[in-house]
Amino acid sequence: MRAPSFFFLSLLLLLLIHISIHCNAADSQLGSEKVTNLLFYLHDTLSGKDPTAVPVARAENAVPKPDNPVPFSTIYVVDDLLTEGPQRESKVVGNAQGMYISTAKKGLTLVLGIDFELTDGPYKGSSFVVYSRNPVMQGNGRELAIVGGRGLFRMARGFALLQTVYLDNVNGDAIIEYNVTLLHH
Ligand SMILES: *[C@@H]1O[C@H](CO)[C@@H](O)[C@H](O)[C@H]1NC(C)=O
Repeated sequence: MRAPSFFFLSLLLLLLIHISIHCNAADSQLGSEKVTNLLFYLHDTLSGKDPTAVPVARAENAVPKPDNPVPFSTIYVVDDLLTEGPQRESKVVGNAQGMYISTAKKGLTLVLGIDFELTDGPYKGSSFVVYSRNPVMQGNGRELAIVGGRGLFRMARGFALLQTVYLDNVNGDAIIEYNVTLLHH
């Protein structure tokens, strides 16, 4: 058998150099990834003359009852305020726009599709996106997936840990602590 030609070996070497350059580029991008922690409070207000969450649709046979105020299939559109502290008078740091859908046949689970934009501080104008299941009844520490972002949070992924600070069982008004961990470029 003939030994591989010099030409063939040179080609192979060029190919290997090419692959190695590309791997290094991927590595350095991973290396420059930032971790950002955010803590804020979301005010989901269903009551009063100026609610920030409104029901827009539900199945014909889904009737809200006192023991099941958000029946399966209900869709809410939200423009909720985000504040620095848990009080409503606390400094506003952003808003959460999107929707949540009641998706559980039993119990209460909301699937959120919401863009959280910060309107204050170093990340003003940037946002991250939650698309995830929120098992409301599971209590504190429930986790939502963060699947993307805009601006300084471009390519973000991460998670948010939720804690209910306040819930009015009659009208549904809630204040939720969001403890967010983001990986982004
Ligand atoms: C936020 O969550 C992180 C874990 O991701 C935890 O270490 C930290 O103590 C939490 N902060 C608050 C204020 O709960």
